[in-house]
Amino acid sequence: MTSLTVAGGQPLRGRVTVPGDKSISHRALILAAFAEGTSRVRGLSDGDDVARTRTAVEAMGATVDGDKVTGGRDRLHEPPDVLDMGNSGTGIRLLAGLCAGFPWLTVFTGDQSVRRRPMSRVAAPLRAMGALVDGRHDGRLPPLVVRGRSLRGIDYELPVASAQVKSAVLLAGLSADGETVVRQPVVTRAHTEEMLRACGVDVEVSEDGLVVRLRPSALSPFELEVPGDPSQAAFWLVAACIVPESDVVVADMYIGPARTGFLDVLGRMGADIERVGERSVRARYSPDLHGTRVGGDEVADVIDEIPALAVAAAAADGETVFADAGELRMKESDRIDSIAHGLGVLGARVETVDDGFVVHGPSRLRGGHTHSRGDHRIAMAMAVAGLRAEGTTIVDGWDAVATSYPGFERDLEHLCGS
Ligand code: S3P
Repeated sequence: MTSLTVAGGQPLRGRVTVPGDKSISHRALILAAFAEGTSRVRGLSDGDDVARTRTAVEAMGATVDGDKVTGGRDRLHEPPDVLDMGNSGTGIRLLAGLCAGFPWLTVFTGDQSVRRRPMSRVAAPLRAMGALVDGRHDGRLPPLVVRGRSLRGIDYELPVASAQVKSAVLLAGLSADGETVVRQPVVTRAHTEEMLRACGVDVEVSEDGLVVRLRPSALSPFELEVPGDPSQAAFWLVAACIVPESDVVVADMYIGPARTGFLDVLGRMGADIERVGERSVRARYSPDLHGTRVGGDEVADVIDEIPALAVAAAAADGETVFADAGELRMKESDRIDSIAHGLGVLGARVETVDDGFVVHGPSRLRGGHTHSRGDHRIAMAMAVAGLRAEGTTIVDGWDAVATSYPGFERDLEHLCGS
């Protein structure tokens, strides 16, 4: 097991670029595998999750050579073996949608964490479209088996606000007979719709962003420079806000629907944070952070940034409430429990409820021995909390960070000037 040791109180200063956005990277590989010809994709996430999706589309017949990805419906074939998606729930759910429309058998598995992630949310609509989907625990958990068939378009109301489920249905819709409609309870990240449109697919989004309509069509190859991942940027921006004398610019990150709500939350907390130009954000030490409430429709927008925001909350004056966030329990770890435990070890006061938690700040954080629980975002949140804490913090299970941000430690050293 690997560990990270963080010395508290080191200011972060300078400019940093974060890895290519993970959500966009998965979709870029999948859509390029589907598109007729060669697409060019630069700046993919260098994390293990995206590497798994790359290996999976290669196993289905796409070729990836540097930034060139060649695909097409007639090139794709049944993968010759089980697809091991590692830690990537996104990879399984999106690819399940793609595979549902091809006359193959695909079996997805992954690590211990992925094998406890709920799959009924994608299995149900894919079955309704005509695919056969099964898995452990009555079809609810991976290994997940998809037997693709001729599909029919559906009009589907998402029971959970999930961009992964929306995307799985839209990807299946590409192979279906007739129109597919997905209705969301709140707006979730819109990468799939945005990217399908760039491939020339007939996709229509309602003005309020809630209803997506897709008519099946061939995909044209595309060129894409993957922007930086705002979910990774959140760790540096929060660190800058809570460590005295810090001043950080995160350059070239994706700014778009349902991804940057954490900037608003930090703004409400009194953070010194601002957009710089089109796609960069600057944050400076903010001694007067105060608590806020995060809940309702806002949650889908900030779901991946809550571990970072929880660390900001520990440094803020008063109560910060994270409500309506039961989905956190379904992530790479049970994040409600992992956050409460990890921050608790460092001296924060966190109270949990079924679908959220309350941080009572400000706490005087002190270094301690924490664990990632196999969850990359918990590992990075603990590292950021360690920067604020007095003394030394150890984050065990640090290897989890490789799923999305293998260069985190290098960038930390760069920002801390060592
Ligand atoms: C993602 C959607 C979100 C997010 C995950 C990536 C995506 O999950 O938490 O990290 O790329 O579509 P849900 O769809 O489960 O909300």
